[in-house]
Amino acid sequence: MKRIKLLDKEFEIFISNDEIQKAVSRIAESINRDYADKEPLFLVMLNGAFMFATDLFKQLKISCDISFVKYSSYMGMLTTEHVKKLIGINEDMKGRNILIIEDIVDTGITMDTLLNELYEHKPADVKIATLLFKPQAFKKSFKINYTGIEIPSDFIVGYGLDYNGKGRNLPEIYKLGVRDKA
Ligand code: IMP
Ligand code: MG
Repeated sequence: MKRIKLLDKEFEIFISNDEIQKAVSRIAESINRDYADKEPLFLVMLNGAFMFATDLFKQLKISCDISFVKYSSYMGMLTTEHVKKLIGINEDMKGRNILIIEDIVDTGITMDTLLNELYEHKPADVKIATLLFKPQAFKKSFKINYTGIEIPSDFIVGYGLDYNGKGRNLPEIYKLGVRDKA
């Protein structure tokens, strides 16, 4: 089993890059189909979604705009109820079809905060594409329109996701090793 160490924690391989690419391609196909006659504005949630977004966008054949927002809630391995806005919305969203690109929906608190802010800008509609989803940790009720892979509530890193800033560059996804689980 492939293991890596980041700071003080050990992680083991969980999802291969092959499996990730298959999930990305499935989402890309659905978006190409559903948005064929629309001109969506993509909002990429920084930092974590950067890698998913670049792989996804390369497979999109539709005309679109791409922008970035940044909210922060995680401290180390714990999500906090307090969501900080670091880079906000600058585009004109009135009447637009918005598609949010996220790496992972965990409790859903971060996404809920963004959704509430987005609706104030009167878009035509807002949909969500997330590579990963932790259904057992989800506390909110918004609908996720495109999900890549559902995973248990383990803490993971790689493919954009970090542990205290480390591991974002890894091409595959790792989960916290049994010995480091609380
Ligand atoms: P939520 O607000 O609890 O849904 O968390 C959303 C954000 O926390 C995601 O956009 C990620 O950036 C981060 N996050 C959630 N779960 C993990 C994880 O297992 N590893 C690393 N970051 C995570
Ligand atoms: Mg994120």
